[in-house]
Amino acid sequence: MTTTPSGHLVNTIGQDEVAAKKVVVLVSGGGSNFAALLAAHGEPSYGARIVAVITDNPHAGALTIADEEKIPSVIVDPKDFATRAEWNVALAEAVRVFQPDLVVSAGFMRILGKNFLDSFAGKTINTHPALLPSFPGAHGVRDALAYGVKITGCTLHVVDEGTDTGPIIAQAVVAVEPADTEETLHERIKEKERELIVTWVSKLARYGFTVEGRTVALKNNV
Ligand code: GAR
Repeated sequence: MTTTPSGHLVNTIGQDEVAAKKVVVLVSGGGSNFAALLAAHGEPSYGARIVAVITDNPHAGALTIADEEKIPSVIVDPKDFATRAEWNVALAEAVRVFQPDLVVSAGFMRILGKNFLDSFAGKTINTHPALLPSFPGAHGVRDALAYGVKITGCTLHVVDEGTDTGPIIAQAVVAVEPADTEETLHERIKEKERELIVTWVSKLARYGFTVEGRTVALKNNV
């Protein structure tokens, strides 16, 4: 038997011997990637369990999803801190409470600075709606469309101190259609993002991973 955060006893007989890895999700907005992870994490074979969602935005739609799914949520609003460094320290403290094995930035629209990465470097990943290293930053979809690319997509990467510069874990390609607007293109990219994030959070949790230079590899040569 084991105890869930809500205090319920759960029978774990027959489940994988290795406990699911604990995942904290960072979100700023609607949280469709967060919702996709929640839809997957209940399966014992998934190997990862979402233990909390943390946001910088008191109005994030992800907070409603968290309430509905009874996932603990925390707001760490930059407006409550004098400096970016202090906010990063508070964010790290909020995440640390949940002792995560993995931190997933899924639509988190803030740069994670040194004060955060001092605690969580190497175990924090981010999804970005473009094929990095092209079009980093807050407007990856808009910038790719404005440049006139014919293919774009999404990138899952390990977070370093740069803006979307960390070692790449996985990417998926999306074709740009002539009639695309930023919204229509972003919706098709988000479909791919959800697949990628659900697949790879499970793989990273089940196998573990190493980062050497710019190479991210699953452990045990998987
Ligand atoms: C996702 O497309 C994610 O890649 C993007 O925000 C969206 C969040 O969607 N993140 C960035 O642009 C970060 N630079 P969601 O809230 O529905 O998951």
